[in-house]
Amino acid sequence: MEAKKYRALVVRETEDKKFTSAIEELSTESLPEGDVLVRVLYSSLNYKDMLSASGNRGVTKKYPHTPGIDAAGIVEKSSSADFMPGEEVIVTSYDLGMNTSGGLGQYIQVPASWIVKKPANLALRESMIFGTAGLTAALSILKLTDHGLREGAEILVTGGSGGVGSSAVSILSHAGYRVTAVNGIFDESSFIKSMGADEVIDIPDPAESAGKPLLKERWDAAVDTLGGNLLTFALRSVKSNGAVTCCGNAASADLSLTVYPFILRGITLYGIDSQNCPMQTRARAWEMLAGKWKYPWLESISTEVKLQNVIPEIEKIKAGKHKGRIIVDMQD
Ligand SMILES: NC(=O)c1ccc[n+]([C@@H]2O[C@H](COP(=O)([O-])OP(=O)(O)OC[C@H]3O[C@@H](n4cnc5c(N)ncnc54)[C@H](OP(=O)(O)O)[C@@H]3O)[C@@H](O)[C@H]2O)c1
Repeated sequence: MEAKKYRALVVRETEDKKFTSAIEELSTESLPEGDVLVRVLYSSLNYKDMLSASGNRGVTKKYPHTPGIDAAGIVEKSSSADFMPGEEVIVTSYDLGMNTSGGLGQYIQVPASWIVKKPANLALRESMIFGTAGLTAALSILKLTDHGLREGAEILVTGGSGGVGSSAVSILSHAGYRVTAVNGIFDESSFIKSMGADEVIDIPDPAESAGKPLLKERWDAAVDTLGGNLLTFALRSVKSNGAVTCCGNAASADLSLTVYPFILRGITLYGIDSQNCPMQTRARAWEMLAGKWKYPWLESISTEVKLQNVIPEIEKIKAGKHKGRIIVDMQD
């Protein structure tokens, strides 16, 4: 197939070790080797994309680079028997947008093993409103339902205004759970309530519970997206034999804790890694997002931008000034 020109966000490192971003024209010849060439129609923005676009070496080692851990589009060329040209597909995480040219380019080329066939009841655009954030929320909730959590149970969600948090609040409230969400640094309580949270609480003051290995039992389970004090608060407040999922460190990577939640309350702590989660679990989560967990206000938690306007949106994530999900229309 003839090489094609396309547009992409390109992050470059300057001589004085700063990072600049611009929309540039590239050729598909510059893409990495891969089984499947996908024309990207939609992408989305996640916390990790901001890190990649800011020169965070823990996410992206080499620049110039095109970030974008999420992509949804149409197979253009395939050497894999599993995917045919014209098929609609979703690619999230693995190495996409980290050290492999990502979804903020109009083309990606990836191994077939990274690709999910788009479920029938989900449009490509909708799949990017969920994106990695929605997938991570779904993987967290799958852990809790597999743990035995049933409709009507009371769940705590931290980072309720963020991408993962707002997705978790929406899925859980739509699926019939009672949700208490922790507000962000900025007051987003009306936004969080509009997604179905029954209650929004302020970020707990760590001084109030300092030295207490356990707190009053309040929730059946918790979805934590922040780490640090919020995760220890959740582990100390969940009822006996409950479960807590941990996926993020937006507040802190530290975890200051005693063993008491585990040995006196039988609490289970589940780690969530959407990047390397097995394809079978990934496909199961996408089926749930396309079915029972597809909440009717999906559109209202998202803001859509065109590729050429993506740079200020990434700056907003850096400044903590965004809410909900930002999807990127990659079409000219
Ligand atoms: N393990 C995985 O597979 C996986 C997948 C996706 C994301 N993640 C991680 O999950 C975390 C959340 O991701 P996201 O995309 O939802 O990020 P996001 O959209 O930036 O949301 C972050 C949320 O955290 C709140 N927040 C930030 N710092 C806080 C602090 N110090 N105390 C209390 N609240 C704070 C923000 O509120 P304000 O806006 O008011 O500050 C916002 O509600 C990140 O650490 C990300 O890397 C992990």
